[in-house]
Amino acid sequence: KRPAGAPDKALARPVTKVGIVGAGLMASQLALLFARRLGVPVVMTDLDEDRVAKGVGWVHAEIASLKDKRRVSPDKASFLTGLVTGSTSKDGFADVDFVIEAVFEEMAVKQQVFAEVEAVVSPECVLATNTSSLSITEMASGLEHPGRVVGFHFFNPVAVMPLLEIIPGEATDESALATAFATGRALGKTTIRVKDSASFVVNRLLGAFMGEFSRIVDEGTPVATADRAVAGLAPMPPFVLLGLVGPAIALHNSETLHRAFGDRFHVSPSLRRLVESGKRGYYLMEGGRPVPDPEVLAMA
Ligand code: 3HC
Repeated sequence: KRPAGAPDKALARPVTKVGIVGAGLMASQLALLFARRLGVPVVMTDLDEDRVAKGVGWVHAEIASLKDKRRVSPDKASFLTGLVTGSTSKDGFADVDFVIEAVFEEMAVKQQVFAEVEAVVSPECVLATNTSSLSITEMASGLEHPGRVVGFHFFNPVAVMPLLEIIPGEATDESALATAFATGRALGKTTIRVKDSASFVVNRLLGAFMGEFSRIVDEGTPVATADRAVAGLAPMPPFVLLGLVGPAIALHNSETLHRAFGDRFHVSPSLRRLVESGKRGYYLMEGGRPVPDPEVLAMA
């Protein structure tokens, strides 16, 4: 028997080639996951050659490191390396059946990306978005085939976090949804269907937690003290997590939640100052360990 809300598996379409829009940190982690778990060609695209080379280079280096750690055999490593390619043009998208975008978190940018992708791919190709907070219905609204758009939200670090939120928009058809569920399971993730509302489920909960945490800092508690206070309660200190997720994404999430739910959600002035400073977080990562960055902590 199917669980409530799960689509009919028989409607899922096969995924034999994947297109990834973006070559940043999230997009690169996705490229690695899709290649490793689905074993199909993955083509990445971004605005300029440098970004594409950096993204593809990161994936190839991760595969080499998996080989060095004997997590994949040398043969498997060269097979996986050959699967992941990149280009500034979307010509390689002509025969993909599944596209996921992980570009800048702004509605107009994502709508533009999907319009460009739709001009190249077949009408059956699923367009998935890794948006962390934006409306799927709105993102799909200007397309010729809005039924193919579905939210497909991963968590950092993608290789280890087990959950995948799957979000149908108003127009999403059962076949695109079934393909999303089947693909999510093939990627080894626990798939849950969630409503298309501001920040979905996980980031709404995290927004409430991080918002209150930021409020404590805004009221004068030092960042490192606040982080020490929750040792053992959270898998990693919350402001270390902030560095992993990226301050700009966290600020954007709090703004989306504030717009949708008002003062229940806090938009933190200290978080805004951090984003404006261009710094990646309150900590510097030294040998994989977080070390408080005195320059940034002074700003909080
Ligand atoms: N990339 C790949 N693998 C990683 C990794 C990374 N960045 N960091 C850790 N790992 C792997 C390790 O290799 C190890 O694998 P192994 O067991 O096979 O050897 C495993 O994860 C456990 O790592 P560690 O023992 O070193 O460290 P921890 O036990 O502390 O686990 C963690 C690391 C899983 C990252 C844990 O600290 C954690 O769960 N942190 C919270 C992460 C979180 O909340 N993410 C959600 C953020 S919200 C989000 O992303 C949504 C977006 O929209 C904003």
